[in-house]
Amino acid sequence: MKLVVTGRHGQVARALVERGRSAGVEVVCLARPEVDLTEPDLVARTIEATRGDVVINAAAYTAVDKAEAEPDLAMRVNGEGARAVAAAAARTGRPVVQISTDYVFDGVLDRPYCEDDPVGPLGVYGRTKLAGETAVAAANARHVIARTAWVYSPFGHNFLKTMLRLGLTRDEVDVVADQWGAPTSALDLADALIAMARRLVGEPDNASLYGAFHATGSLYTSWAGFAAAIFAQAAMLERRPVAVTPISTAQYPTPAARPANSRLDAGKLHRVYGLALPEWRSSAHDCVKRLILSPEAQERS
Ligand SMILES: NC(=O)c1ccc[n+]([C@@H]2O[C@H](COP(=O)([O-])OP(=O)(O)OC[C@H]3O[C@@H](n4cnc5c(N)ncnc54)[C@H](OP(=O)(O)O)[C@@H]3O)[C@@H](O)[C@H]2O)c1
Repeated sequence: MKLVVTGRHGQVARALVERGRSAGVEVVCLARPEVDLTEPDLVARTIEATRGDVVINAAAYTAVDKAEAEPDLAMRVNGEGARAVAAAAARTGRPVVQISTDYVFDGVLDRPYCEDDPVGPLGVYGRTKLAGETAVAAANARHVIARTAWVYSPFGHNFLKTMLRLGLTRDEVDVVADQWGAPTSALDLADALIAMARRLVGEPDNASLYGAFHATGSLYTSWAGFAAAIFAQAAMLERRPVAVTPISTAQYPTPAARPANSRLDAGKLHRVYGLALPEWRSSAHDCVKRLILSPEAQERS
């Protein structure tokens, strides 16, 4: 199997390359300048010319706060760019997997969100990702919308790496404790995406495989709980102890509002594909270990 993936330096793209290697799956990454999601004609030409079984759109405008000031650019990338990727895949007879987000929901529900719960993004990023979902579904009947959340990995920028960096110089960190979700390892997500892609290739006419799916780490926590787990694991590897002080969202204002409840119900992924991502805590521990014990390997990868 060969996957065509947009983005090269992003967390999910890099995780797909790494996990693809161990799974015996070829992964071709298409990034700027060959694929710039703000240039639909270029996207079309490059994706149509690149052989591969499944197209995964892992590139996106992901700067949640900056998007509030750049709504047009965010929409071009996350809405129209995603449409161009899906349409190019459709023209060449291939399914597309669009990575999407918990931020399509407003977070007021008192239980984890299912795929068909009403959407209601709170900010520009969520609105543009929702536009991408709609555009992808319209452009390619053979689409999977894989909504994930709170992604971290040894690569790029993410909350886990930020906490480890802060922990080098601080004894105490204030972390929001009233937003709930499931930290998701990009590596675990990549494993799931590869398994999903195999099914899409093997059973192209199985209609149940298409549509929206939630794919996050198992079990839930708050950002403060996530931070505490990161510091606890780091302390076991002889990093200095760091105390987490729980604070409220109101005490940590950001340009973009975040959903208080980011919990996604991943039951459909299990029912249809037989997949469940590992518990967030064990994967977070693995990532902390990897970053502390072989930090130079992350720079090379
Ligand atoms: N991170 C999270 O917590 C999270 C949560 C839920 C959903 N998601 C979704 O998961 C997917 C992957 O996220 P991630 O964490 O891997 O993101 P990431 O690490 O921020 O990577 C995003 C990638 O998109 C590329 N990109 C941005 N604008 C582009 C453009 N105009 N043309 C082509 N490429 C462009 C970036 O390229 P450069 O490297 O050149 O800038 C980068 O490689 C995205 O769809 C995101 O919305 C992420």
